[in-house]
Amino acid sequence: MKQSFEKGFFAPLPVLIIGTYDANGVPDAMNAAWGGQIGMSQISVSLSASHRTTDNIKLNKEFTVAYATAEHIAACDYVGIVSGKNVENKLDKCGFTVTRSDKVNAPVIDQLPVTIECRVIDIQEEFNETRVVAEVVGLKADETVLTDGKVDYSKVGLVIYDTVSKSYRAVGESVAAARSVGRKYE
Ligand SMILES: Cc1cc2nc3c(=O)[nH]c(=O)nc-3n(C[C@H](O)[C@H](O)[C@H](O)COP(=O)(O)O)c2cc1C
Repeated sequence: MKQSFEKGFFAPLPVLIIGTYDANGVPDAMNAAWGGQIGMSQISVSLSASHRTTDNIKLNKEFTVAYATAEHIAACDYVGIVSGKNVENKLDKCGFTVTRSDKVNAPVIDQLPVTIECRVIDIQEEFNETRVVAEVVGLKADETVLTDGKVDYSKVGLVIYDTVSKSYRAVGESVAAARSVGRKYE
């Protein structure tokens, strides 16, 4: 029998590492689970107004989003625990280095293999929440995660955030071909 439940209603949630610069060009990164794709070429993220990242996005109107990986999960978690407002060398502390994106005024984290470069098209502020909608203006991937020039997610080491157990879970094997396996019911 189905029972009602309260917490952890949306799954899977991604583990997005948002990269930004402040007014002095100091890089910051934060961990965000409340984000997703809108249509073919936009994404949205939902940010607390108190974050350094939120200030930086409002300032520059540009940012990057990289996928957290199992290999670098401790550093990805760390950037979600401490604020750049309190720790000046936040990225140095967890071993992340950055290269400035050639598409947007935002840092690309060298250690994370897949990065989306984003330009803000809308910001909605409500209470303590800042909802950002952005256009994807560039994509970067390490050669090591490409197969025939395309990102191969079996090589990325993707993780999701499980809000119930409060843990990161590895993304598993492909179970079926999309827009194909269901054709047997046609
Ligand atoms: C797994 C995880 C997911 C998180 N998801 C979000 C989120 O979606 N939105 C948000 O505002 N903060 C989220 N946070 C909290 C921020 O990452 C955290 O407060 C961070 O320190 C902000 O850094 P900043 O002030 O340097 O920008 C998350 C943290 C963790 C560990």
